[in-house]
Amino acid sequence: MKDEKILKAKDIVKEATSITVLTGAGISAESGVPTFRGKDGLWKNFRPEDLATPQAFARNPKLVWEWYEWRRKLVKEARPNPGHLALVKLEEEKPKFTLITQNVDGLHKMAGNKNIVELHGNLWQIRCTRCGSVEEDFNVPLEKIPPECKKCGGIGRPNVVWFGEIIPMSIIERAIKSIKECQVMLIVGTSGVVEPAASLGLLAKQTGKVVIEVNLEPTLNSTLYDLTILGKSGEVLPLIVY
Ligand code: OAD
Ligand code: ZN
Repeated sequence: MKDEKILKAKDIVKEATSITVLTGAGISAESGVPTFRGKDGLWKNFRPEDLATPQAFARNPKLVWEWYEWRRKLVKEARPNPGHLALVKLEEEKPKFTLITQNVDGLHKMAGNKNIVELHGNLWQIRCTRCGSVEEDFNVPLEKIPPECKKCGGIGRPNVVWFGEIIPMSIIERAIKSIKECQVMLIVGTSGVVEPAASLGLLAKQTGKVVIEVNLEPTLNSTLYDLTILGKSGEVLPLIVY
């Protein structure tokens, strides 16, 4: 699989001292975590408006929690794959490195990356809908759903960003800053249809960065980027990084 594009990407990445990476569900696919779109994607079998909106939670918190419990179970059995691990090596090597992820599975953290911006939150965190406090809880199943806040007794919700919700400004700002300050941006395993993540590659191009995309298939944004490498991230990223 060592084609010319991979060698070119390898050179670009090797020269760079400051790299920002954006990942989506595709990077965890080889760990057995389902993606959202595509033929076996979660949104083929479930309707986001029933499960991933504040309205759905207000209507039926138990149903929403049952879906999250199912996803937490899937992810609990998953382990980081060679794609995740290649990004750990990259962080170790580069003076400046930021990993922006849309994934809520926590696999980048488990793999060992440190400077992570979780755009859509984290499946292992529970946020109190009354007092706002956030607790990590890795138990599957949880003692009780919906879980109760240990501090105030309020109802807990997954600390993720649902459709119709806004990503906290401080998180967006960290992502944007890292893109403005990087030399090279890698975009891995995302269909690029959900904002604001979808526009981050555009921002990189507008600010003169080299953008390399790794995906199983071309995306809507591929033509904007400098290089698109088609293949599995668990195979392509190690070839670029090691
Ligand atoms: P998608 O499911 O939309 O896209 C996954 C992308 O990964 C597709 O472009 C696939 O071609 C690609 N892919 C699949 N397997 C791959 C592999 N082994 N190697 C490389 N690429 C692979 O997932 P996201 O783009 O992450 O948001 O979706 C963005 C957001 O939409 C999610 O964070 C979630 C969802 O609704 C919320 O829940 C708010
Ligand atoms: Zn509380």
